[in-house]
Amino acid sequence: MAAFQEAERQAVYRAIFERRDIRRFRTDRLDDEVLERLLLAAHHGPSVGFMQPWSFIVVRSPEVKSRVKDLFERERQAAACFYDEPRRSKYLSLKLEGISEAPVNLCVTCDPQRGGVVLGRNSQPETDVYSTCCAIQNLWLAARAEGVGVGWVSILKLPQLRDILGIPPHVIPVAYLCIGYPETFPEQPMLESEGWRRRLPLPDLVSYERWAPPPREAEPS
Ligand SMILES: Cc1cc2nc3c(=O)[nH]c(=O)nc-3n(C[C@H](O)[C@H](O)[C@H](O)COP(=O)(O)O)c2cc1C
Repeated sequence: MAAFQEAERQAVYRAIFERRDIRRFRTDRLDDEVLERLLLAAHHGPSVGFMQPWSFIVVRSPEVKSRVKDLFERERQAAACFYDEPRRSKYLSLKLEGISEAPVNLCVTCDPQRGGVVLGRNSQPETDVYSTCCAIQNLWLAARAEGVGVGWVSILKLPQLRDILGIPPHVIPVAYLCIGYPETFPEQPMLESEGWRRRLPLPDLVSYERWAPPPREAEPS
């Protein structure tokens, strides 16, 4: 049968709806076997021309984490200037990473040169990064099913991150992820429960036959 059984279908949707970005972790170790399953899930993501442009750097060393955390902290402060008060103070009060607490940090990279001339990528070279994001989403959903939390940290300058992790200039660090057992899986995105931004109404984002602008302002209420 092509479609999944009802219980299997429910499980897939449960992983999708209950996946959260996690910033608060318990200190329990993440078993190697669990991490291997998550990496295998990522490695079974779709990719343009079956390019599989991703690689995974597993970081457990407190020293490396601490260098990345310093990088984050500098960037977090620098980004505060984009907001006026009271939003600036709100931004600075948000916990936006769990780099030190998470037992595992994982940098997912994309190598645009992998595979030479890649079928289907000539018109849209950026599909290599899109493919890498598909792998990341696979990992994120598999992690939810395992009871493991994942938090994506993008408040990092890439040249410095490359330097810390020894990533060559042509390879793109697409994601820096914090992985471990979460304190909780919150029901809502933290940015929603903190009043930062709400989920947009889906009907506003769907059009038929051609593009249409969203009818309502897509800004925070
Ligand atoms: C590309 C990308 C970058 C992100 N960067 C950060 C980040 O630096 N810090 C953070 O706290 N959350 C980050 N997030 C998580 C989003 O804030 C989160 O996905 C969103 O608020 C919805 O919440 P949910 O993932 O819990 O459903 C990132 C998510 C994505 C997809």
